[in-house]
Amino acid sequence: MATLLYIEASPRKQRSHSIKVANAFLDAYRSANPGDQIDLLDLWSESLPAFDGDMINAKYAVMHGQDPSSQEQAAWAEIGTICKRFTDADKYLFSVPMWNFGIPYILKHYIDIITQPGYSWSFDPDTGYSGLVSGPVAAIYSSGGAYHDGSGAEAFDQQKPYFEGWLGFIGLSDVSRVTVAPMLSPPDEVSAAVDSAIEDAKKLGASF
Ligand SMILES: Cc1cc2nc3c(=O)[nH]c(=O)nc-3n(C[C@H](O)[C@H](O)[C@H](O)COP(=O)(O)O)c2cc1C
Repeated sequence: MATLLYIEASPRKQRSHSIKVANAFLDAYRSANPGDQIDLLDLWSESLPAFDGDMINAKYAVMHGQDPSSQEQAAWAEIGTICKRFTDADKYLFSVPMWNFGIPYILKHYIDIITQPGYSWSFDPDTGYSGLVSGPVAAIYSSGGAYHDGSGAEAFDQQKPYFEGWLGFIGLSDVSRVTVAPMLSPPDEVSAAVDSAIEDAKKLGASF
């Protein structure tokens, strides 16, 4: 039995296009993999700890092989619990809205917490950085505008390049994209784009 971790990054719930498309993926995935476990991580209902000085000191203590203080140890234990939920999964689904050309701050907060030595990456002086996470990723990207090749707006897209750059750093380079865009358009265009993304998501979910 595999575990699919679904990380939801839109706070708009019933009104979210990325969640609607992700739910179509999940329905198809469940039908194809009835024995699998789906772990829903709604970033907006988690109380993620502040990524503060103690957390950063704990990270550096681990990176430099130093003894962490008791406060840093407590911070590192909290990081460990959150990291483990992530690294315990076998497959990953993310719904990722575009906010100000990048990703929502809550997803960046989560990334800052789980991008940790020993959990998601390692460093070797001879071979450099290596990602420690494995498994396929399905990424559902929503945006108000369209940023596809030939749109003339490609350079503004800091959502997909940043997100997939980060995924690659931690070892997740097998990424399938579904794009739902442009969502800030006339209703008939939005509806056609959502329907098309739902079809793509269903196909991907059935074979993921
Ligand atoms: C705070 C905020 C910032 C946004 N910034 C952008 C942007 O820079 N570019 C864009 O194309 N759309 C932008 N949008 C529009 C969203 O990407 C679009 O509404 C998308 O459908 C949001 O995903 P969701 O429906 O899953 O919540 C923004 C929306 C919000 C709420």
